[in-house]
Amino acid sequence: MAVLKVIKNRYSVRAYQDRAVAPEVLQTVIEAARLAPSARNMQDWRFVVVQDAARRQQLMAAANNQAFVAKAPVVIACCATQPDYVMRCGQRTAPIDLAIAIDHMTLQAVEEGLGTCWIGSFYEDQVKTILGIPDEVVIIELLTLGYPADTPPASKHRQPLAEIVAYEKW
Ligand SMILES: Cc1cc2nc3c(=O)[nH]c(=O)nc-3n(C[C@H](O)[C@H](O)[C@H](O)COP(=O)(O)O)c2cc1C
Repeated sequence: MAVLKVIKNRYSVRAYQDRAVAPEVLQTVIEAARLAPSARNMQDWRFVVVQDAARRQQLMAAANNQAFVAKAPVVIACCATQPDYVMRCGQRTAPIDLAIAIDHMTLQAVEEGLGTCWIGSFYEDQVKTILGIPDEVVIIELLTLGYPADTPPASKHRQPLAEIVAYEKW
């Protein structure tokens, strides 16, 4: 599929079929994250893939009780292993590197007929306890993954190009 078509077809999936994701398909999605660019090629990430139903239930509670988090057959905790590195521009690399990797996964998921939803509404301390994630690691986002049980929205609510782009000067 052409990249822009995949981008257009991606939407936040908040309802999932009760259907497992085959290991080789899951691996393809994670491969898309593995190939993502990162500052200084630090690859400062680790992805904890959760499929156990009881553990997904715990993650749902830690994610502000968003019910679909437990319904998704896969939840991926996207973690930064070097969370304190700051670039010369003043930005931390970790959220940027992880966001690129996560977006790669969301797009590869579309290619595989899967859906995803970024989850930023979660209590990091609780997720760390559930998944045994060390103190020095930061969980940037959770990502739900599975076969959609809903239908895509008719259109995306986005600002027009003219409002978000300037040429040559601000
Ligand atoms: C960083 C980030 C955090 C998000 N956290 C949540 C969340 O906790 N729960 C949720 O239902 N959606 C969450 N979303 C999904 C956004 O609401 C969604 O991407 C946005 O409304 C645009 O809709 P679309 O993804 O369908 O195009 C998050 C998205 C991003 C990028």
